[in-house]
Amino acid sequence: MDPQREKKPHALCIPIPVQGHINPMIKLAKILHSKGFLITFVNTEFNHQRLVRSRGSEAVRGLSSFRFETIPDGLPPQQNPDATQEASILARAIEENFLGPFKTLITKVSASYSPVTCIVSDMLMGFTHAAATEFGIPEFLLWTAGAGSLLCFDQYPYLLEKGLMPLKDSSYLVNGYLDTVLDCIPTMHGIRLKDIPPWIRYINPGDEYMVKYFCLQLERAKSASAIFFNTFDELDCEVLNTLSLKFPPCYGIGPLHLLENKIVDETLASIKSNLWKEDPECLKWLDSKEPSSVIYVNFGSITVMTSQQLIEFGWGLAKSNCSFLWIIRSDLVIGESAILPHELLAEISGRGLLADWCPQQEVLSHVSIRGFLTHSGWNSTIESISCGVPMICWPFFADQQPNCWLCCHKWGVSMEIDNNVKSDEVQKLVIELMKGEKGNSIRKKTVELKNKAKESCVFPSGSSMANLEKIIHLMQTSLI
Ligand code: UDX
Repeated sequence: MDPQREKKPHALCIPIPVQGHINPMIKLAKILHSKGFLITFVNTEFNHQRLVRSRGSEAVRGLSSFRFETIPDGLPPQQNPDATQEASILARAIEENFLGPFKTLITKVSASYSPVTCIVSDMLMGFTHAAATEFGIPEFLLWTAGAGSLLCFDQYPYLLEKGLMPLKDSSYLVNGYLDTVLDCIPTMHGIRLKDIPPWIRYINPGDEYMVKYFCLQLERAKSASAIFFNTFDELDCEVLNTLSLKFPPCYGIGPLHLLENKIVDETLASIKSNLWKEDPECLKWLDSKEPSSVIYVNFGSITVMTSQQLIEFGWGLAKSNCSFLWIIRSDLVIGESAILPHELLAEISGRGLLADWCPQQEVLSHVSIRGFLTHSGWNSTIESISCGVPMICWPFFADQQPNCWLCCHKWGVSMEIDNNVKSDEVQKLVIELMKGEKGNSIRKKTVELKNKAKESCVFPSGSSMANLEKIIHLMQTSLI
């Protein structure tokens, strides 16, 4: 083995195999590489093949010091659609199938490449803790969702113990019970039961498993050396400090894409992780639009909706008379193809561009974008904030409800749309966001946060830059 190589720290990075987790993990891996680490990045075989299909084999070629490896997910093909909407199927597969191949991989890369000196694992991949302990390797965790949502997940045992959740039956979804205000979550005063990650309602099959899964992952996380978050102190300092009282030290090192832009060289920056093929028309179409005139609509990689909800969104956008770029994944509608009626397509022709995947970061930084109708996934949220783009939130599941609450009620950068979406409300909120007074006031706040996000990542004394230096030191010197 090359002695120079052996001296370098070697981080084995493993994300949950879904888009919203792979993206921040690969950014962190690139940043660590730029700071002198050897990187082994672990995808599932299934996602590795998808990357090859969407981006060509160069997407996973890597560099001699930044290598891609794979492990099988053990899922039969019919349970492995492009978007893993049934979270509990994936969670069970992770718990049951990943540990063995992961340990084999550690042995293999340590022998053939360089000894693994630290594991950087998604906090929801708690099985890596057993491997870290067995091999005596320090483990660091990346929480890719909103930091505030971790405080909410941490309340699951309390909510169950107090009998506040699960819901007694589905009538509780509509009888006002979910508006109950909770006082148990530090720094998130005024948050309601409806803003808690909804698995704890036990309405859908698999929910109870997901609650147990989260409780287990949070418990395991307590043994890690540190937890990293894709956020910055000026946004989430209170939450991070509160979390650090209960969990290992918590560091905000985001927005990761801004740190990546600042630190990572061009060769490494060209390693991308989109599992879907981006439609190149989106940016060209935006170039043809007036500055600050377009609303961007995208519900991320997992959200699904009924065809009625799709149509309500469509008519709302049509009636708003605003230009819009709307990303409709082919599997966005539950159980059927996402098809808009002819009369709606005729109505929006020339004003709306529909595509099935786009380069979101470029879209959000495009000068013609004025607002974002989003499902409140954390990556979308932090990417939008760091571009100064205010949002309308339609949260679907997981951390999206608390993200939405924080955006609307704490940071004042968003407006919320009712889960039972109606075209009139979409029309009203889109007009308000694009042209109204409330839209202007939340735009101002978003731009203030954009500037703070930038400062945190650009200047050496910026909070995320300083935290990055701290975690690098920790990772280079940590022993189990
Ligand atoms: C999932 C969860 O749903 C989310 O709540 C959690 O915070 C992260 O994991 P997802 O639903 O896909 O993620 O949403 P989001 O967090 O917004 O991540 C989507 C990522 O894909 C973003 O980085 C976004 O830039 C990228 N993307 C999405 C594209 O590049 N193009 C698209 O068309 C859509």
